[in-house]
Amino acid sequence: MTVLLTGGAGFIGQHLARKLTEVRFDVAALDLLHPQVHADPEAARRAFPGPVLVGDVADRTIWTTANAEVRRVEALVHLAAETGTGQSMYEVDRYHRVNVDGTRRAAEFAVGHGIPLLVMSSRAVYGEGRYECRDHRPTFGRPCCDAATPAPSREDDPHHPVSVYGETKSLAESVATAVCGDRVPLTVVRPQNVIGPGQALHNPYTGVLAAFLAMLREQRPLTIYGDGHQTRDFVHVDDLAALLTHLVSAPPVPGDPLVLNSGTGVRTSLVELAGLAGDAAPVPTAGIVHVEVHRAGDIEHACADLTRLTSVGAPRPAHSTAQAVHDFVRASWDRPGVAASAWDHALGELGERGLTS
Ligand code: UD1
Repeated sequence: MTVLLTGGAGFIGQHLARKLTEVRFDVAALDLLHPQVHADPEAARRAFPGPVLVGDVADRTIWTTANAEVRRVEALVHLAAETGTGQSMYEVDRYHRVNVDGTRRAAEFAVGHGIPLLVMSSRAVYGEGRYECRDHRPTFGRPCCDAATPAPSREDDPHHPVSVYGETKSLAESVATAVCGDRVPLTVVRPQNVIGPGQALHNPYTGVLAAFLAMLREQRPLTIYGDGHQTRDFVHVDDLAALLTHLVSAPPVPGDPLVLNSGTGVRTSLVELAGLAGDAAPVPTAGIVHVEVHRAGDIEHACADLTRLTSVGAPRPAHSTAQAVHDFVRASWDRPGVAASAWDHALGELGERGLTS
């Protein structure tokens, strides 16, 4: 049985593909091998344990080619997406085209072949997420009062995206649900911040940990935007791949989509993350520098509620955030990547567009 992975040559796709082949599946990828993500597209193609068809998921014709070239596709995992929160605020059309139109085409392909679809969404659909206090009902998107504290997001919480990226992921979920209807099984996974070996080091529009690695390697202080009390839930890519492998093997019934969070359920502040990254580095660190800036589209707090994941018998994460950070730093230390100044430029680009405050 062949699983077709869109975005299969990327960070999560490569891990998932290896895990799927270890179980019993054959894999094929449909991937654009975009230069922003793949500094060495040929290496990415070689690393993938199956054929790689190069194309854009938003392009209708590539799906016809996929049809002809990939025999016996029995499940589709749609990972291909534009993922930079900050970049999404000005590359609006590109993000909508790839993330929303691309998901529509993927869902149409699944329906056309009568195969299960698994869509990679994001916790970004929750935006600022759930807040709770002793005296009021939970609120979403903002605290109800000064006593409120951020709480883990649950799958049934309302969508309150604050970035274009989050908005496209929310729309993509609706599109996939509408197109799949009661015709094919649909699973939607909303990962928190995924980290681990293999993460892109060339893409300054990618996550904070890759930025910290670049700074650590140059023995430069780690740049934290704001006071660093913002929190995220950093999950090891192997844990996400194990979850996805389980879900590919056990699709829900058509008409009853399964929506699941993926994370550790544990919050880590940016200051704590900087400490973990510094501890894992094989050189002395130069501390932290706070930059008083807020990027449009950035949220304060994020954390996954894993109650549903546990109740449906899906695998819980096996790694702590500290282990995930350590694995990432150690595996990435000697790999090529862009200089830390690339992140300064990416921030400057946002500033020039009036997207920082
Ligand atoms: C990330 C992912 C997104 C995923 C989401 C799930 C990226 C680009 N985005 O978004 O695909 O769906 O998690 O939660 O990976 N920061 C610094 N210093 C830096 C860089 C960033 O302090 O040098 C701060 C940012 O202002 C932000 C936090 O770190 O507060 C995290 O930012 P980032 O890793 O870019 O991504 P998320 O918005 O969490």
